[in-house]
Amino acid sequence: MANDNQNLEKLTAAKAAIAFVKHNDVVGLGTGSTATLAIKELAKLMENSLKITGVPSSEATKELAISLGIPLLELGKVNAIDISIDGADEFTEQFNLIKGGGGALFREKIVASLSKKRIVVTDGSKLVEKLGAFKVPIEVNPNAENYVILKIEELKGKPVKRVKNDEVFITDNQNYIFDTDFGLINDPEKLANELNQIDGILAHGIFVNLTDIILMAKGNQITSYHK
Ligand code: 5RP
Repeated sequence: MANDNQNLEKLTAAKAAIAFVKHNDVVGLGTGSTATLAIKELAKLMENSLKITGVPSSEATKELAISLGIPLLELGKVNAIDISIDGADEFTEQFNLIKGGGGALFREKIVASLSKKRIVVTDGSKLVEKLGAFKVPIEVNPNAENYVILKIEELKGKPVKRVKNDEVFITDNQNYIFDTDFGLINDPEKLANELNQIDGILAHGIFVNLTDIILMAKGNQITSYHK
């Protein structure tokens, strides 16, 4: 659970991120508590003069954006996004991320892939030397469940099917998530490529080359990493 200080840091990072959004931008809307704060700040700016169109990265974000009156485009129908704002579960100064704590990794990856400028917003707890203390979320089609488990184990991963409120967690795309312990990850790009080869994995939470700016708040100080 995030404490008050962490929540304040999330808000500080969210506020810093929305300064990058321009009038008429198509904005990729991330998922999670930090992205939610950024979306709420964007909605406040829209009460004045800012006009944007959002592209949500999850059903939860879609609902939030609709409740705030943000006009939306459907992710699958979009060719380009001007800027996206999303959170992360872990990041390194080499711009490698683990995402998917909220289970929205697949659509978040598509949003990031379509975006010209990708901003990641985090509190001070997300910076790590090496990825991997946070288990890598892997989204798996149920028909490939046992096959994918075998393939992940060949890569020395220990997958655990995600459960939420005592029920198997089902993603927006009707799949499972396997939170997978690979230990500390020495070469995120190699692991990402290996996971990309496995049929039945829709997406994994290792984000490589999908981030341009990271805004991390520590206390009320922002550290900004630019690629
Ligand atoms: C959701 C994500 C989130 O961006 C990530 O889990 C960070 O969340 P938060 O801002 O709540 O710490 O990847 O799938």
